[in-house]
Amino acid sequence: MTQHILDTIGNTPLVKLQKINPYPHIDIYVKLEFFNPSGSIKDRIVNHIINDAIATGQLQEGGIIIENTSGNTGAAVAMNAAIRGYKAILTMPDKVSTEKQDALRAFGAEVVVCPTSAPPDSPEHYVNKARSLAAATPNSFMLNQYDNKKNPEAHYLSTGPEIWQQTGGKVTHFVAAGSTGGTISGIGKYLKEQNPDIKAVMPDPFGSIYYAYFKTGVVPEPEENTYQVEGVGEDHIAKAMDFSVVDEMYQFSDQDAFGMARKLAREEGIFGGGTGGANVWGALKLAATLSEPATIVTVIPDNGVKYMSKFYNDQWMLDQGHSLG
Ligand SMILES: Cc1ncc(COP(=O)(O)O)c(C=O)c1O
Repeated sequence: MTQHILDTIGNTPLVKLQKINPYPHIDIYVKLEFFNPSGSIKDRIVNHIINDAIATGQLQEGGIIIENTSGNTGAAVAMNAAIRGYKAILTMPDKVSTEKQDALRAFGAEVVVCPTSAPPDSPEHYVNKARSLAAATPNSFMLNQYDNKKNPEAHYLSTGPEIWQQTGGKVTHFVAAGSTGGTISGIGKYLKEQNPDIKAVMPDPFGSIYYAYFKTGVVPEPEENTYQVEGVGEDHIAKAMDFSVVDEMYQFSDQDAFGMARKLAREEGIFGGGTGGANVWGALKLAATLSEPATIVTVIPDNGVKYMSKFYNDQWMLDQGHSLG
């Protein structure tokens, strides 16, 4: 028996891919983060940041938690706020699926939807909107997941050690696309401390600025509305993102991510989001380059149910010019 919903965060299963990995000398394991109670990896960072905010007095009784989110952090905040008795206000870009918006409302949170087309310096950009709301709201606390070092720390303290233990120290490569970068930065740091030979690989959607920044050291001009996958890629450099742990990056298309997510559901029985598809696509691309035996670990950050009206809908796929695969 578990006393508290928050006690069910973490200790997620690590499952070996059985059918879609064609490389017999390589094992690929996926960490099923949709087993977390609000359905994504973000339960880990949100609980860690809120625990810290309460302990340090930044979040007080009757406080209002505000955050910008592509949906999963919002659901985690909304769930956490519900059980702990705080009000939550979440800002999100309008490209986020309606399922994800409604999930936040189901937990009792207030949702502020902002135009995806708003450039990063616009007051209407969902990140700036959260900041201005926090500044104008007394007794509010903003998680600031993009720039908060507690975000990668949550993965350094939980997800990283879990992967190390679950593989019995056999992991050789870790793959994760990033938005705040908390996942790859925290897990990458922890694993490299256990074994400096472990490599971290980061897939990134075409249209995100991270790939060009990693390759050139120069922050490119962000492109508008260029990719549909939700939750990874960025139009600014997050302070939670530590490129010093990243060894290689690959660029992927929406078709790569959605096609692989659909394949994972059909062939492996693993029903994850588009970023899980991108991560497995990246793991397979990496595997194709490795001649020695290897143990690749990646994450399925969230649940496929969140995307029923999008890439798990055949008509939507065709309307968007994607193939069903
Ligand atoms: C579905 C999904 N996958 C992956 C990520 C990326 O995780 P991180 O912010 O730790 O880089 C996010 C973050 O928003 C997400 O929502």
